[in-house]
Amino acid sequence: MTQKARKILVTSALPYANGPIHIGHMVEYIQTDIWVRFQKMRGNQCIYVCADDAHGTPIMLRARKEGIEPEALIARVAKEHKADFADFNVGFDNYHSTHSDENRHYASLIYQRNKDQGNISNRTITQAFDPVEEMFLPDRFIKGECPKCGAQDQYGDNCEVCGASYSPNELKNPVSAVSGATPVDRDSEHYFFKLGNFEAMLKEWTRGGHLQDEVANKLGEWFEAGLHEWDISRDAPYFGFEIPDHPGKFFYVWLDAPIGYMASFKNLCDRTADLAFDDFWGRDSSAELYHFIGKDIIYFHALFWPAMLHGADFRTPTAVFSHGFLTVDGQKMSKSRGTFIKARTYLDSLNPEYLRYYFAAKLSSGIEDIDLNLEDFQARVNSDLVGKVVNIASRCAGFIKKRFDGKLADQLDNEALFETFVTGGNHIAECYENREFSKAVREIMALADKANQYIDEKKPWIIAKEENREQELHAVCTMGLNLFRLLIGFLRPILPATAEKSEAFLQVPPLAWQDLDRPLLDHAIAAFKPLMTRIETSQIEAIVAASKEDLEQQGSTTTISDGPLAKDPISETIEYPDFAKVDLRIVKILKAQHVEGAEKLLQLTLDLDGETRNVFAGIKSAYDPEELEGKLTVMVANLAPRKMRFGVSEGMVLAAGPGGKDLYILTPDSGAEPGMRVK
Ligand code: 2FM
Ligand code: ZN
Repeated sequence: MTQKARKILVTSALPYANGPIHIGHMVEYIQTDIWVRFQKMRGNQCIYVCADDAHGTPIMLRARKEGIEPEALIARVAKEHKADFADFNVGFDNYHSTHSDENRHYASLIYQRNKDQGNISNRTITQAFDPVEEMFLPDRFIKGECPKCGAQDQYGDNCEVCGASYSPNELKNPVSAVSGATPVDRDSEHYFFKLGNFEAMLKEWTRGGHLQDEVANKLGEWFEAGLHEWDISRDAPYFGFEIPDHPGKFFYVWLDAPIGYMASFKNLCDRTADLAFDDFWGRDSSAELYHFIGKDIIYFHALFWPAMLHGADFRTPTAVFSHGFLTVDGQKMSKSRGTFIKARTYLDSLNPEYLRYYFAAKLSSGIEDIDLNLEDFQARVNSDLVGKVVNIASRCAGFIKKRFDGKLADQLDNEALFETFVTGGNHIAECYENREFSKAVREIMALADKANQYIDEKKPWIIAKEENREQELHAVCTMGLNLFRLLIGFLRPILPATAEKSEAFLQVPPLAWQDLDRPLLDHAIAAFKPLMTRIETSQIEAIVAASKEDLEQQGSTTTISDGPLAKDPISETIEYPDFAKVDLRIVKILKAQHVEGAEKLLQLTLDLDGETRNVFAGIKSAYDPEELEGKLTVMVANLAPRKMRFGVSEGMVLAAGPGGKDLYILTPDSGAEPGMRVK
């Protein structure tokens, strides 16, 4: 009996349009994509949409710093994001932007309907205002001394030294992180979403099986703390949508961000026959709606979002699935350790399917963090995928090609074993459905072990040498390849590209779950080509080195160009002995040259009064090598040598400026000579 196909709409959180995708983000997109691919393979109508989250102050300021319009910034970033996702085989059905007509339409509609229902209020509030930039300052853009421990240079919402949270007006000696000016208080009228109006509805919804248990419990605490009105407006200048009838007031980025899910879907509907918006979003929709998100944004998705939807007469989500964060080698991703790995940096060295597999092998339906242990990653991929799965095909394919004209036998050698695999598939499917991917992987690998055991016992390489055992050889290799086909079918949601290559090898259409139980017999296959290679240690080292290089490329300008600051506030005070440790010397640039494969680096040969140093400097955007040769500059001479992808860097030259073309190496006044100490 065939089950009726389900109608399912799935989303992942919308990444901000001001920075690159890193492997921490990829946990979510890979998790969602696996689930979506599984649903599609089951024959369900499953639609996966996403978009860039394109509004807000950080995006506005980053564009300003780069000297471009926000529209140009978000267009560039969207292109990069889409390429990263596509290359990781994340199969969105649509990727849109929150800065779109559809999103403006639904944001206004949801606001208007809530307003009509009495769910919006307004009042005047007092906020920190930057008198130089003439803008209100979000908490993150105010810095000062922590009111609790006195640590300097802390953000307006919490202290990174002692962990205290506070409001920005408690900071001592506050400054605007945008201009460096002292903020002043200024009044402004704001609009609020009255979350409290939804208390009964939300209590029911959050306990209604739409959330993981641990998340529902957490929400219980928030209910106890009380549901506060939510400030949904921001004053100009702001990159976002102006609130209808309130010139100069804009929707806060988090108001229109989740509406971006609808906007992306609507954009797809407008281009797709037979796809109707209301079937999925209407109050009485029978479709399923799932949001995959990180555990840091639960409040928005489990309280504000269902309330906004309900208040505007749209359906609420079937479920919100939260996941934990990624650690690398047991620690938070770190730029200095080279474990803050951008998606692109990973892709430059390694096959995306390896990471998809490793994340799947670690993911459960819970919200615990998952760890990418780089050694374990290499070992596991090599042993499971290359050693176990792909190996089955390579052990059998050659005989079929050479001895049987590329054709499989018309019978299986061991039907019972085949049935064991098919039955195993039922539980694997359940694991996928419940997002217990690590369990699915465990079961698939147990079956892969069984398949290898079968081949080890049958020893086709021995049968092949003996006379009158042709038929047996044919049956055994056919059996091996049929087990391989099942394993690839089971792994298909995780390894779509490998599955595609395997389908080409087996000469079959895309594997669908319900077809797996019928063996492939009396069927011609193509020549076997290696499906996957081992991960080499050097490839992982290259990723770590390149991630460190990313940091170095920002190099001496890192505090200025990193983050949303237009002006760089003065760092925390240090004592003289700390400064004295830095050995700054005048050097002469003997040679400057391009580094093959490095986007931002120049290789400098420096003369330090007779001693030469090799230094990689992130100044390619600002200088042609020729103009540097012969110049004097300043270097940190006692910086520990650093191994980079292109060689060892023996120090650092000093430069100032926001980056790009605006980067200036420091040069001494005339009279200075190589080797002189800078004091
Ligand atoms: O936290 C973030 O990265 C947000 N850009 C996620 C938005 S998800 C949705 F609401 F749009
Ligand atoms: Zn503190």
